[in-house]
Amino acid sequence: MKKKTDLKKLEKRRKQVRGIGIRLLLLLLFIAMAYGANNRIEVSEYTYETSQLSFSFDGFRIVQLSDLHNKIFPKNNETLLREVRALEPDIIVLTGDAIDGKTHTDIPAALQFMEQAVQIAPVYYVSGNHEHAVQQDIFTQYLEKVKELGVRYLSNEAVQISTESGQTFTLIGMDDNSLQANILQTLTADAKDDFQVLLAHEPQYLTESYAPSGADLVLAGHAHGGQFRIPFVHQGIWAPDQGLFPKLTEGSFTEGDTTMYVSRGLGNSAFPLRLCNHPEIVSVTLRVVK
Ligand SMILES: [Fe+2]
Repeated sequence: MKKKTDLKKLEKRRKQVRGIGIRLLLLLLFIAMAYGANNRIEVSEYTYETSQLSFSFDGFRIVQLSDLHNKIFPKNNETLLREVRALEPDIIVLTGDAIDGKTHTDIPAALQFMEQAVQIAPVYYVSGNHEHAVQQDIFTQYLEKVKELGVRYLSNEAVQISTESGQTFTLIGMDDNSLQANILQTLTADAKDDFQVLLAHEPQYLTESYAPSGADLVLAGHAHGGQFRIPFVHQGIWAPDQGLFPKLTEGSFTEGDTTMYVSRGLGNSAFPLRLCNHPEIVSVTLRVVK
């Protein structure tokens, strides 16, 4: 009788151990998935065809990095820089939130990254909402250092990007605080005969502002891919300023003659975790067709 009771106890113990084992395995699987979703970088490559540029821009490559939020990829961002280098960009554009302005501001980390990035290609940078969340005097000092490194910070400015043969297009960089103002219309009107690439952190103004301004190509971020993505259906769960099941979180969008590419970005803000949503580098190759 005693033996039977012992056997029952043993069986119960075995079941408990198996249950704990399965839970541990699931936890490890979740950790591995979460680590991958937050650290394994994906490159999204687009080819943008246009007849508006001279052939000297055929193959010109713009590499976009967005929403780094002071994330440091392994070995002082060497993983990220290696990916960028391999793309052989003609220019690199940073479309905002390079620093996190709320929970983990790390200005030395952002500067260290930029110092390396300018060795690869000219870097153009616009603010996101997080740059404006940093205390004003700290932000001013940060910008001085950014400029010293040779990064071109564009705050409601247009610059000419040129090839060796002297052909140009206009690159416009909007300050995140000015996206709803009329400044963009003025900047695009001044360069209305040029091919125009617009850097604007927040994608949700495509219909009301970017497309009516006449910009040809827009590069945006901000939405972090919707933070958690539902597998297979390419749908994010939530994004700032778009709410639940947001539309503009990754990929290509067209409104009239304007095309916008939205990056899922690279890092995280206050919410420290992405799921099914790998950090993303966007690479745009210009293809000239006549
Ligand atoms: Fe962001």
